[in-house]
Amino acid sequence: MKISGSIEQTLIGKRIVLGVTGSIAAYKAVILLRALLREGACVHVVMTQSATKFVTPLTFEVLSGHPVSTDLFAAQQEMKHLSLPEQADAIVIAPATANCLAKSALGLGDDLLSTMLLTAQCPLIMAPAMDGGMWTHPAVKEHVQTLRARGTVVVDPTMGLLASGQIGQGRLAEEGVILEAVQTALAPRQDWHGQRILVSAGPTQEPIDPVRFISNRSSGKMGYAIAEAAQARGAQVVLVTGPTALSPPRGVEVVSIATAEDMTKALSMRLAWSTVVIMAAAVADFRPKHPLSHKIKKQGPADRALDLERTTDILSFLSAQRTTQLLVGFAAETNDLIAHAKDKLTMKGLDLIVANDVTTAGAGFGSDQNAATLIDRQGSMTELPLMPKRALADAILNHAQALLRARQSNLSPKPANMGRG
Ligand SMILES: Cc1cc2nc3c(=O)[nH]c(=O)nc-3n(C[C@H](O)[C@H](O)[C@H](O)COP(=O)(O)O)c2cc1C
Repeated sequence: MKISGSIEQTLIGKRIVLGVTGSIAAYKAVILLRALLREGACVHVVMTQSATKFVTPLTFEVLSGHPVSTDLFAAQQEMKHLSLPEQADAIVIAPATANCLAKSALGLGDDLLSTMLLTAQCPLIMAPAMDGGMWTHPAVKEHVQTLRARGTVVVDPTMGLLASGQIGQGRLAEEGVILEAVQTALAPRQDWHGQRILVSAGPTQEPIDPVRFISNRSSGKMGYAIAEAAQARGAQVVLVTGPTALSPPRGVEVVSIATAEDMTKALSMRLAWSTVVIMAAAVADFRPKHPLSHKIKKQGPADRALDLERTTDILSFLSAQRTTQLLVGFAAETNDLIAHAKDKLTMKGLDLIVANDVTTAGAGFGSDQNAATLIDRQGSMTELPLMPKRALADAILNHAQALLRARQSNLSPKPANMGRG
């Protein structure tokens, strides 16, 4: 079926999966489907078994022009849990039942829709609808909180007359509000267009001999998330990275290095090109003084000492070399977080420091989440709760952007480097 759209169709070329679950408001998904089609989107509908009791798949099939998927194990729908989310630009679940919110928050996959959510990488928008008592249930509240912390857009239900005859909050949001949430999730913010960002990530490896090295627990996830977020927001990005197990972010120039010395060279070569430098790498402070050219044998003395020497302090080095670049550093600490971070900010002449306590449960090295406090040289401190590293990356970019704007308006000079921290 062809639906004529508005003059400015905002979702042309976008592939959207519309998930419909077993709520009394399931019929409203038909109206949302038509709104999405009007905006030029190509929509595939996935229904739960419960949803099919409220509205027939045929309705969605005829309107969307595509078969409706309902069964994880149906032969003709084989592997749809992988192929649909892979091709989708966004998944919208409207209405989303309390059951669907719970399964998604807990990571359960017992039908096509919930299993799809476990494989999806694209933005997820959920519009719950349920009785008022269900919406205010502590379990539902917790699941919504978990989903939001993970980056899911949850469109709050509205107040009004519910199917039960009661007045309460639980009515599915208007289709215009859900549509707007989809448009916002898909509209790339280009607020970093024109900026050139140099990001460092990962650990360094300092050789002891040809097969052994000193390194640290950095996974590189935070730096990669920053590079990815900055690229998505329109910046040109060069990522200088130590060895990690991560795939290079799309659209980002990646420079792979191993040692602190390599990293110093790679960053200083590109400093003049950059407008912002974000040092998320965990660079070794010390390296073996005399790395051997042959493998150290097990035989010989039982006790051995390793002579170490300091590596270049890259942050101080870049701080001394920079002209107008905004310089952002990280302080990964295990104690006295704020005091250490403030010292580092001053001593190394940074504009902004991201202080994170690597002993916090669920945060820090290797985790997909992080909690941090952003401290800038104007003295402002912003405490951010545990959130996905990608969301934290956006928060760091927002703060850096505010500093760039403030600098543009009062042209403040670069701070003096107070020495090594
Ligand atoms: C008439 C009727 C209306 C319902 N409406 C809702 C609703 O609006 N929201 C909700 O969360 N559950 C509602 N339920 C309960 C769900 O259908 C039930 O929890 C189901 O297991 C959800 O399955 P699904 O999440 O796989 O679609 C309703 C059930 C019935 C019988």
